[in-house]
Amino acid sequence: MRIISGIQPSGELHIGNYLGAIKNWLELQKNSKNECWFFIADYHSLSEDYEPKEKSKEILDLATDLLALGLDPKKSVIFQQSDISDHAALAWIFNTIVKVSELERMTQFKDKVMVQKQNVNAALLTYPTLMAADILIYKAEAVPVGEDQVQHLEITRDIAKRFNTRFEKTFPEPKPILTETARVMSLSDPTKKMSKSHGPKSYIALNDSPETIEEKIKSAVSDPGGKGPGGANLLSIFKSFAVTREEKTEYEQFNKDHDAGKLMYSKFKPRLAELIAGYFAEYRKNHENLAKDPDYVKKVLEDGAEKASSIAQKTLKEVKKKIGLTI
Ligand code: ADP
Ligand code: TRP
Repeated sequence: MRIISGIQPSGELHIGNYLGAIKNWLELQKNSKNECWFFIADYHSLSEDYEPKEKSKEILDLATDLLALGLDPKKSVIFQQSDISDHAALAWIFNTIVKVSELERMTQFKDKVMVQKQNVNAALLTYPTLMAADILIYKAEAVPVGEDQVQHLEITRDIAKRFNTRFEKTFPEPKPILTETARVMSLSDPTKKMSKSHGPKSYIALNDSPETIEEKIKSAVSDPGGKGPGGANLLSIFKSFAVTREEKTEYEQFNKDHDAGKLMYSKFKPRLAELIAGYFAEYRKNHENLAKDPDYVKKVLEDGAEKASSIAQKTLKEVKKKIGLTI
């Protein structure tokens, strides 16, 4: 199966990104029958407010984080989106077959318009056509993402279908692959999804120290005795990071207490913080080493771009021919 996914370089990785998407990337690359492509969606990230001086650092940091988590250039092709200009060319072609009204219906578009009222640029609207191009240019069949991206995959399938009907059968109709925790909620407002855009107190970054994790979990919204969304979210995070048999048993007990309305947060929260900090201990060590060798990280992206570009060019050539541009 050919698999692709991307992530924007726009701030720190958090446990929502990890549990919703990257955890599956790591699982999928283990299976040698899968052909995995993972990339840094830097073009997409330009649709949000950003500081040009910081962008290149964000790209390098994200690549470093992904390698430290275990993405393996021997098993997966890892690259930077803007290195492959064919994505943007295919997106332009898709813009000619997608309707403005379809793009305006996207939840992410509607949300972002509210967040960055002073910067409602056209890329916010056409974001999904570039995403469709990212996926379809490699003719990928499956896309591991968090739940918030499912709507973008629906429109990707619509674009593929429309292209295949209007021209010639060219693209597969890719499906999302979701994890068990496809939607981790914010620590400060458990009715919203955990996201970089709601400030550092709302999420746990993978690079947070054990002390910071403890502080953040301590101040996370919970529901003493009750069964509200805050407690349920913390429990589901506990469940996701419980790996050993003991940790799983511990989870069962906490969950039972929560159901019975007598969960002791003063005991549960420090354990949860400890569990998360322990889970990422190896990552933090890998990260420290990789951060000392940016040239290696850049080389991984260069090698990845070389592999990606040959496939992307081939698809674009095929598409140009089918739509009548080749003379
Ligand atoms: P953010 O909302 O923090 O900016 P991104 O848009 O960069 O995150 O998302 C990168 C990947 O992580 C996507 O696959 C997305 O679906 C997933 N993801 C982001 N936030 C969450 C969350 N709270 N729960 C589960 N998955 C998430
Ligand atoms: N839109 C995705 C996000 O915000 C990132 C992304 C861009 C992506 N292109 C993609 C994900 C292609 C999967 C496939 O998280």
